[in-house]
Amino acid sequence: MALSKPSPVLSFLSILALFFSLYTITPTSSASLQDQFINCLHRNTHVYFPLENTFFAPAKNVSMFSQVLESTAQNLRFLTKSMPKPGFIFKPLDESQVQASIICSKKLGIHFRVRSGGHDYEGLSYVSEMERPFIVMDLSKLRQININIKDNSAWVQAGATVGELYYKIAEKSRVHGFPAGLCSSLGIGGHLTGGAYGSMMRKYGLGADNVLDAKIVDANGKVLNRKAMGDDTFWAIRGGAGGSFGIILAWKIKLVPVPKTVTVFTVTKTLQQDAGNKILSKWQMVADKLVDELFIRVIFNVAGNNGNKTATTSYNAVFLGNKGALMNVMKKSFPELGLTPKDCIEMSWLESIVYISGFSSRTPTHVLLQGKSPFPKINFKAKSDFVKKPIPESGLKGIFQKLLKEDIPMMIWNPYGGMMARIPESQIPFPHRKGVIFKIQYVTSWPDSDKRPSRHINWIRDLYSFMTPYVSSNPRQSYVNYRDLDLGKNKKTAMSSIKQAQVWGAKYFKGNFNRLMKIKSKVDPENFFRHEQSIPPLPVRD
Ligand SMILES: Cc1cc2nc3c(=O)[nH]c(=O)nc-3n(C[C@H](O)[C@H](O)[C@H](O)COP(=O)(O)OP(=O)(O)OC[C@H]3O[C@@H](n4cnc5c(N)ncnc54)[C@H](O)[C@@H]3O)c2cc1C
Ligand SMILES: *[C@@H]1O[C@H](CO)[C@@H](O)[C@H](O)[C@H]1NC(C)=O
Ligand SMILES: *[C@@H]1O[C@H](CO)[C@@H](O)[C@H](O)[C@H]1NC(C)=O
Repeated sequence: MALSKPSPVLSFLSILALFFSLYTITPTSSASLQDQFINCLHRNTHVYFPLENTFFAPAKNVSMFSQVLESTAQNLRFLTKSMPKPGFIFKPLDESQVQASIICSKKLGIHFRVRSGGHDYEGLSYVSEMERPFIVMDLSKLRQININIKDNSAWVQAGATVGELYYKIAEKSRVHGFPAGLCSSLGIGGHLTGGAYGSMMRKYGLGADNVLDAKIVDANGKVLNRKAMGDDTFWAIRGGAGGSFGIILAWKIKLVPVPKTVTVFTVTKTLQQDAGNKILSKWQMVADKLVDELFIRVIFNVAGNNGNKTATTSYNAVFLGNKGALMNVMKKSFPELGLTPKDCIEMSWLESIVYISGFSSRTPTHVLLQGKSPFPKINFKAKSDFVKKPIPESGLKGIFQKLLKEDIPMMIWNPYGGMMARIPESQIPFPHRKGVIFKIQYVTSWPDSDKRPSRHINWIRDLYSFMTPYVSSNPRQSYVNYRDLDLGKNKKTAMSSIKQAQVWGAKYFKGNFNRLMKIKSKVDPENFFRHEQSIPPLPVRD
């Protein structure tokens, strides 16, 4: 889309807005940053920018500013007083405003972050710890969804949540779906840039495997679709992670078939109920080999207190089929779990989204339109691993010992195999394919009142180090959508940022990292789109 032509009405409004902005200057640096930005917008574009409900600065109304900053930020760890705050937050009302703000950020040399759903694990969409001042462009007002059942596709704007997308698909058809993330509040904008897995990944692959087209704003402020951006960029944005190649305005996705009836279950075992880890060991043997329609993940928690603290493993599943068919699969492949028909609940695919998202079982599906997660926001730190051979009993014992030492630990083991193993490693930048049995996510969280958060961060680093012999190596692989700024850092020796990038790059992207850097060098050689772990341009050789 090109910049809109000046219309007399718009120009009049722009002058009015400019006039207004000149009279709301307050003598702080953030206000003048905002003024420079707004003035640039009006000088260089013909887009009308209303100031109300579009710009949020602490100097103007700090409580409103904090409310907007916190609105979709998922990790409380990055909202504490000591964390750097943006000079202002800008919420574009349409795509031409995004384009105009890129042009002006570049012109003025303003460092900015872009936020769709705010789930970044390291807060990279709303905090910059590397450059100040910075601003946040929040895409939450761009959330249109257009479903086209006839050609099995949809256009979804970046600020829409996956919950809204799933709801809108199901509104049009009970037998269409989309294979992206489990948590209903994820923003489609950032989510699809890093892969996007959910309960249908074994059947259909990742969200990013099912992207047909995209509309982006590049580093020159141009709006490009798939054809205009070319094969390289279109490859890079589907898994090369957010904030490196451009701003995603909207994705065109491929809808996939889902049955009218799906079946879910959650079966929980305490350590005592799974003596000798017989069930867990069997899960490791079968999780990636089950029929593609069955996704059984394992969620590890601790329960009870001092006297009777135990670890629990919850087998949390979605099956694309009815209860009878599921019982047959389980009897044949995984009888050790002891699943009974009473454990199984038949429902629509959309209801299964509400279920697996973590809402209580009878929550109405329109909860998906509220853009909320079922869980209260927490301070958290997470890490990930990929497992290629079953973890032996001795390893499992050690894991449970570690879990029992932490206040609020969690682990999720997420099965691979099926379609995930059939897609080649270089098809998109996401490389974790054949040979992966499951992915581990480690999480620890703590309340705001906790006086020593470093204790929890040390705990998770120690667990990660303990896991070294049991997980993938050379490189030890990680999921980029579980962003982890520990990767590539070395306590003992200082490394250049490009050396660090080579370490995390190999973990997130394996052999695809080189191609990502080459593409970056071509489309954004000045590194305009950057953050703590953005793809760097290839180092210049002399
Ligand atoms: C509670 C929770 C549950 C999760 N569940 C899953 C899951 O089931 N499956 C899964 O695969 N992942 C899951 N994730 C991880 C999630 O996929 C990533 O955090 C993802 O990046 C979130 O996208 P977002 O738009 O919500 O986040 P944001 O924080 O808005 O963005 C993430 C990154 O992408 C950049 N970005 C944002 N919007 C754009 C854009 N429009 N164009 C370019 N770059 C952009 C940001 O600057 C940032 O670097 C979960 C995360 C959380 C916190
Ligand atoms: C500031 O924002 C809050 C909402 O967070 C609102 O209630 C209040 O009226 C605003 N104050 C001013 C002076 O606009
Ligand atoms: C632990 O004991 C408390 C009461 O002492 C009980 O309420 C709780 O259910 C027990 N937890 C477990 C996991 O057995």
